[in-house]
Amino acid sequence: MPTPKPRVFSGIQPTADSLHLGNYLGALKQWVALQDDYDCIYSVVDLHALTVNPDPAVLRHRVRATAAQFLAAGVDAERSILFVQSQVPQHAQLTWLLNCLTGFGEAGRMTQFKDKSAKLGEKSITVGLFDYPILMAADILLYDARLVPVGEDQRQHLELSRTLAARLNSRYGEGAAVVPEALIVKQTAKIYDLQEPGAKMSKTGHPAGIIELMDDPKTIAKRIKSAVTDSGQEITWDPREKPGVANLLSIYSALTGRTVEQLVNDYQGKLYGHLKADLAEVVIEALAPFRERTALYLQDPGQLDRVLDQGAERAEAIARTVYQRVAARFGLGQAGAAAG
Ligand code: AMP
Ligand code: TRP
Repeated sequence: MPTPKPRVFSGIQPTADSLHLGNYLGALKQWVALQDDYDCIYSVVDLHALTVNPDPAVLRHRVRATAAQFLAAGVDAERSILFVQSQVPQHAQLTWLLNCLTGFGEAGRMTQFKDKSAKLGEKSITVGLFDYPILMAADILLYDARLVPVGEDQRQHLELSRTLAARLNSRYGEGAAVVPEALIVKQTAKIYDLQEPGAKMSKTGHPAGIIELMDDPKTIAKRIKSAVTDSGQEITWDPREKPGVANLLSIYSALTGRTVEQLVNDYQGKLYGHLKADLAEVVIEALAPFRERTALYLQDPGQLDRVLDQGAERAEAIARTVYQRVAARFGLGQAGAAAG
């Protein structure tokens, strides 16, 4: 028998109608490439999205729209498993077990929670938002995933997942959990806001700073042309002094496969305007087929739902086994399960 391929797990929240270029270059692009060598499981993590209290109809639409974009980007629902998190009940179940292993202070140190709760104000913060990283750890551990492709902003959450997996093993014996590793591709780990090159491109950022994958060509061209660049004129790679230009070069390089050195070389003596005009074309060309494919998937929601139902069935078959194994270590479940 061939040795099984190592497992990959990752997820994206359905919190917008369109993913943005940061999601694509930081995560989704890697997801697609990993399918050749790994056993991949990808999820639309709708339970995570509940932490921002979405309108139910909007959430329902965004779950489908996000799944359609995964498929349009090249996630293959036959080779990989594509599913919606809330369709597999073990995510919430394992979260509870992990909650009971996580220190209150430990969870309170998550910088994303601290940032978000500072923004929202104390009255609007829920226990769900606090618990978000533990649910993420459950997502990963539930499939014995070894590798988790994400952007830089998820590094600390991944570290918590590793800590919890190691804790399960030290408390309940080796083999209770697989300790996962983050896969963060350095060059595209953090794509920056076009208007504010010190901040990451984010769904909650100013619209002019974001390129959404579903944006039409005119919008894309406008956003790139009005991107904040830096003083001076020369196109050089200097993320510290010229973060705006460096961000454009990173995006350009990631979408074309040309190295940053090559680009800097080719643009010697040219102006920021040239770089922007060419990059706009590159992005428009890269995203056009993506938009078309997404629209096709969304035209047939019945078929999309069937794909997701099948994905959930396959995911649950794995999740059930792993959950029972972990729960038994805690002393839960039928007496017979403990022998497994
Ligand atoms: P989210 O939209 O928060 O669910 O993020 C989905 C994925 O995109 C995660 O792996 C993030 O780390 C990644 N991501 C989000 N924003 C960026 C960004 N600006 N640059 C690179 N990766 C990002
Ligand atoms: N928290 C991640 C984000 O906001 C999304 C996510 C949820 C995730 N569960 C996951 C990513 C499991 C990787 C693995 O980007």
